[in-house]
Amino acid sequence: MLEALRAEGITVRFGGVTAVDHVSLTLKDGEILGLIGPNGAGKTTLFNALTGFVPAGEGRITLYGQDVTRDPPYQRTRAGMGRTFQTERPFEELTVLENVLVPAFLKTKGRHEARALALEMLDQVGLADRAEQPALDLNLARRRRLELAKALAVRPRILFLDEIMAGLNPPALREMIGFVAGLRTQGLAIVMVEHIMQAIIELSDHVIVLASGKMIAEGTPQAVTSDDRVIEAYLGTD
Ligand SMILES: Nc1ncnc2c1ncn2[C@@H]1O[C@H](COP(=O)(O)OP(=O)(O)O)[C@@H](O)[C@H]1O
Ligand SMILES: [Mg+2]
Repeated sequence: MLEALRAEGITVRFGGVTAVDHVSLTLKDGEILGLIGPNGAGKTTLFNALTGFVPAGEGRITLYGQDVTRDPPYQRTRAGMGRTFQTERPFEELTVLENVLVPAFLKTKGRHEARALALEMLDQVGLADRAEQPALDLNLARRRRLELAKALAVRPRILFLDEIMAGLNPPALREMIGFVAGLRTQGLAIVMVEHIMQAIIELSDHVIVLASGKMIAEGTPQAVTSDDRVIEAYLGTD
């Protein structure tokens, strides 16, 4: 399998706070990397450094062998990254379809092609029948699926998911786990920040645990969730 992402020694400082402290990771096509850790551990900051929304003060990031360390988000998107945002913020006055058209234009030439791509993505997340509704009318579970459709509309090879399972009821959670598992079988590489352990355990091939900006453990979901340092990091803060 092709190496999708490599990050080496990623460090992000905010004034005196080292939010991410020399974190390294690699990810192959068709793999899911779970990123967990207590609040304030640096998960979102690492995620933002990888996707270009926060500059890495130190370290190097390559995407399919291409150095993207200094590239802004839109160039990383062109190079194959797609992402969701933790606080989903659809254009509420636009329809569901129009929301997906916005990113779809990035990888298509004309309106006709963008529309076809957007409809295909909506179909993939089970929102095709809602295409003409205002995004405002969607409930939480459907808003999350819309977020996923938007991320997929840039045709990413590597997908960054920021807590897309949070707050979902059990049936919606099962459904979302199913969607993500389906994306892996399509060959996408996925980085997932997630608090829902059920999702981490069922989906991740590899898990990285952050605490105070440092990687304190990594391995299979089973190995990290029974690691004393990990249990201590969670119990020690919450
Ligand atoms: N924009 C920022 N400016 C200053 N400090 C920040 C900023 N973003 C995050 N931090 C700090 O960096 C640390 C890691 O935060 P964050 O990445 O949000 O953790 P997590 O997502 O794991 O909860 C925290 O101490 C937080 O207060
Ligand atoms: Mg966070």
